[in-house]
Amino acid sequence: MSIEVAYPRLELIVACDQALGIGKNGTLPWSLPSEFAYFLRMTQNCQNTGGKVHVSIFGRANWESIAKTIGSMDNNPWKDTISFILSRSMTNQALPKDVYVCSSFQEIIDHLHKPEIKERVDRVWVHGGVSVYKEALGSPHFYRLYKTVIDATYPADVFFPRIDETRLTLVHDPDVLQGVQRENGVDFQVFVFQSTGVNPLA
Ligand SMILES: NC(=O)c1ccc[n+]([C@@H]2O[C@H](COP(=O)([O-])OP(=O)(O)OC[C@H]3O[C@@H](n4cnc5c(N)ncnc54)[C@H](OP(=O)(O)O)[C@@H]3O)[C@@H](O)[C@H]2O)c1
Repeated sequence: MSIEVAYPRLELIVACDQALGIGKNGTLPWSLPSEFAYFLRMTQNCQNTGGKVHVSIFGRANWESIAKTIGSMDNNPWKDTISFILSRSMTNQALPKDVYVCSSFQEIIDHLHKPEIKERVDRVWVHGGVSVYKEALGSPHFYRLYKTVIDATYPADVFFPRIDETRLTLVHDPDVLQGVQRENGVDFQVFVFQSTGVNPLA
């Protein structure tokens, strides 16, 4: 069943292992460079978008982890995109251009409706962590979940929320890695789920 999801359509992107592990000690539990390259291509590549840009939504810990990995807090690691950081503690901090701190999910949605932002927005990516994914999955704006499933289990301290995937529709997206991928002796596969209008949180 396909349903219309009102702007801003939230697209979640995550990689998780067999136990739904997604993080360990503030970073990723695994090293899968081709999976990470796919993730960057999906969320950063704003070609063929008619000059519009992607939006990225991060929890504060995830933003700090990514800034350590691929950028710095002084530069927007998601160049040419608009980034929102969810945080109640990051106040009055100098931020790079097009990076905003919001203290609630609703504040981000409200920002995205401002005409000067809305006219620039192509896709809206939700990068997690856990509570950010939960809010997005339970939102009427939830549209898609891009889930990389890694065929292994790693020590982890952060886990993706349990969802009932039968409440979602599996869809084909030609832009994702197709079929089982293998890197460093580990198999992984990307699955794309679309909202049916039913809250998928189990
Ligand atoms: N495998 C993957 O695809 C993937 C994806 C995402 C994250 N990760 C991993 O997961 C870990 C980080 O995730 P996490 O769940 O621990 O933390 P997180 O969600 O990134 O950050 C938590 C912080 O975000 C802020 N926050 C979250 N929800 C909020 C809300 N509704 N309103 C206001 N502020 C809110 C709070 O910041 P303040 O304390 O500043 O108020 C909270 O302490 C890392 O290990 C990262 O590598 C992995």
